[in-house]
Amino acid sequence: MGRSVLALLFMPALSLAEGRDLYEHHCIRCHREDSAKPTEFLKAKFRGKPEAIVELSKRCPWGRNLSQMEIEIIAEWLSGVE
Ligand code: HEC
Repeated sequence: MGRSVLALLFMPALSLAEGRDLYEHHCIRCHREDSAKPTEFLKAKFRGKPEAIVELSKRCPWGRNLSQMEIEIIAEWLSGVE
């Protein structure tokens, strides 16, 4: 059973923690504080707009290696809490 199936079962409680994990794994190396678009900037810009992140991921190289579900989980985390 893959992680995505597990994520579905335990949503939404698990998805927020997973979103952070996935983000740290796939995204943070280019979005650190000293980068052009730090994580805090992305969080502020995309607060409440997970669809916009999902949309962007289809056009940008960073979405290529991720499943739709992983992207959605990351998008939810990035646009939501904290
Ligand atoms: C290899 C480096 C790299 C990785 C990995 C990466 N990004 Fe980015 N990302 C960039 C760069 C560079 C830009 C700025 C592009 C621009 O403004 O033209 C960007 C822009 C963005 C934007 C749009 C910012 C805006 O101003 O609208 C979002 C959202 C984003 N990244 C999210 C992510 C997410 C989510 C991940 C992980 C799944 C990720 N990125 C992984 C380099 C990266």
